[in-house]
Amino acid sequence: MGGVNPGTAVDVYRARAGVVAVTESAVALLDGAERARLDRLLRPQDRARYTTGHLLLRLVVQAHTGVPAREQRFSRTCLLCGGPHGKPRLAGDGAPDVHVNLSYAGPYVVAAVSAHAPLGVDVEQWEATDFAGFSTAALTRAEAQELLGFDVVDRPWARAVWWARKEAALKATGHGLRVDATDVRVTPPDRPARLLSWTDAEVPAPTLRLADVPTGPGYACAVAVLARPGDDLEAGLDVRTHDADDLVASFPA
Ligand SMILES: CC(C)(COP(=O)(O)OP(=O)(O)OC[C@H]1O[C@@H](n2cnc3c(N)ncnc32)[C@H](O)[C@@H]1OP(=O)(O)O)[C@@H](O)C(=O)NCCC(=O)NCCS
Repeated sequence: MGGVNPGTAVDVYRARAGVVAVTESAVALLDGAERARLDRLLRPQDRARYTTGHLLLRLVVQAHTGVPAREQRFSRTCLLCGGPHGKPRLAGDGAPDVHVNLSYAGPYVVAAVSAHAPLGVDVEQWEATDFAGFSTAALTRAEAQELLGFDVVDRPWARAVWWARKEAALKATGHGLRVDATDVRVTPPDRPARLLSWTDAEVPAPTLRLADVPTGPGYACAVAVLARPGDDLEAGLDVRTHDADDLVASFPA
């Protein structure tokens, strides 16, 4: 693998929900669609995680663009149906060209940001992928065979890494699970993350770079960044990771 492309860094922030209570000041940041979604969440841990995620998103955008959290507006038009539940994007006249994505698993909220190109991030709990039918739903036949080559104690890790890499790629294009994960082939978990093939009949294969992101024990995380003309696709992604608990806890400063 070569070096990294200068100027193409991706920053990945990880916070744990519960660091911040669902405070009025955090909820006040949310727009109408986000509040409606929050209102539908009944369990305190789900409400805390959702609020933490959308607070983190804004604090990360503020840190990278200078646009104050309270002034940010997001569009989240679903690619499939046009509804307001798709990939968030900073909106408004003159909004800086910043690319963001969010993911949740267990207590973790992960936000990735890049000035370079659209991206996707995914965090997965190993045990959440431990169900009958995972291989059929998530892996190609070749990958399912490769999984069996892993020691049985390593399979929860391997499944989660496979899934995080695939979902990060699916989120980078914004199609999500509209594209069947079995139409997407990535390198096995013991090899550097790469997209190998994408055979959806309607959605053309993207060109992207993938990287694993260190997370907590029992979790896997990956980020995918779409390529722009001139990118060195052999170069690794420059991924900078940040523990964002203090950032979240510091709001409102
Ligand atoms: C994108 C998708 C894979 C995320 O699944 P998930 O289990 O919620 O996974 P994560 O926790 O990793 O990510 C959630 C975040 O991804 C972001 N997101 C939503 N849709 C997205 C998309 N199409 N592409 C990329 N990111 C997306 C959002 O920020 C979301 O968090 P939020 O709702 O709090 O804003 C899934 O929602 C999907 O496949 N969506 C497209 C198809 C679909 O079902 N559409 C709804 C009916 S039209």
